[in-house]
Amino acid sequence: MMKSIYLILLIFYCSYVGATVRPVVMWHGMGDTCCFPFSLGSIKKLIQEHTNKTYVKSLEIGGNIVMDYQSGFFIHPNKQVEYVCQQLSEDKKLANGYNAIGFSQGGQFLRAVAQRCPNPPMKVLISLGGQHQGVFGLPKCPSLKTSTCEYIRKILYYAAYEEWTQKELVQATYWHDPLREDEYRSRSTFLVDINNELDCNERYAENLNKLEKFVMVKFLNDTIVQPKESQWFEFYTPGQDKEILPLKKSHVYKCLGLEQLDLDGKLDFLGVEGDHLQLSEQWFIDNIIPLLL
Ligand SMILES: *[C@@H]1O[C@H](CO)[C@@H](O)[C@H](O)[C@H]1NC(C)=O
Ligand SMILES: *[C@@H]1O[C@H](CO)[C@@H](O)[C@H](O)[C@H]1NC(C)=O
Repeated sequence: MMKSIYLILLIFYCSYVGATVRPVVMWHGMGDTCCFPFSLGSIKKLIQEHTNKTYVKSLEIGGNIVMDYQSGFFIHPNKQVEYVCQQLSEDKKLANGYNAIGFSQGGQFLRAVAQRCPNPPMKVLISLGGQHQGVFGLPKCPSLKTSTCEYIRKILYYAAYEEWTQKELVQATYWHDPLREDEYRSRSTFLVDINNELDCNERYAENLNKLEKFVMVKFLNDTIVQPKESQWFEFYTPGQDKEILPLKKSHVYKCLGLEQLDLDGKLDFLGVEGDHLQLSEQWFIDNIIPLLL
């Protein structure tokens, strides 16, 4: 009698644990915020509908919505990452690990979190249109007035590697000019570091390899990210801006431990038709939700 009660309790316990889906942390892209109902707000709802209401934390950088919006342009990624690491470590619900979804630049920022702050542990990292090798061109900006977009683009073309832009403009910190690769290496204040371009920081490679999975989604008809291949961690062969160097031949593949992730079957490349971040609800349900379960 006692035994069967234990057995029943065990079955209940297991189905309860089985039903608990890991918490999800999301980081929005440029020109967006944590919580607009038409963007990340609706994605949070979608995730909750399909995961038995798991805990979803959509990161708000800086404590209010205005700061959060501005952070995408004007708060240095190093500061943002530090802020997020603090927020995550203080959140008891994440203590046993979480899955992460980064939207556009939020993709490379969350990767920086995985590399710099292994606690609490990130388990699955999903990058939706992230620019892991930076951008060289910003042909269009999403949800911005055309004049603002033009202005930012001009600054990037003419002054991306000036000290003040590297301090003050987020997009400059992952501006990657293949015609000025040396300047990129010596001046970039963010991307060069998280991509181990200067030295192979083993801690970064080790921490990245703690992931169970690193999934990169590329928008096949992207007109915002240049080159599109940056979404799969590829970039131009140095010295020109036409040809793409295959990931396996790039310095970062070995040096950041991507090769090891790949060998362990933890690196996934997904492609989806459409422009930047234009994914349908059905595609998300079919391709992203299963990664969270
Ligand atoms: C949903 O999660 C709760 C606990 O949070 C659990 O009791 C319930 O059985 C789960 N439901 C389903 C359908 O998995
Ligand atoms: C999107 O890009 C893919 C791959 O390059 C191509 O096969 C497809 O025709 C494109 N779709 C549209 C709508 O342009």
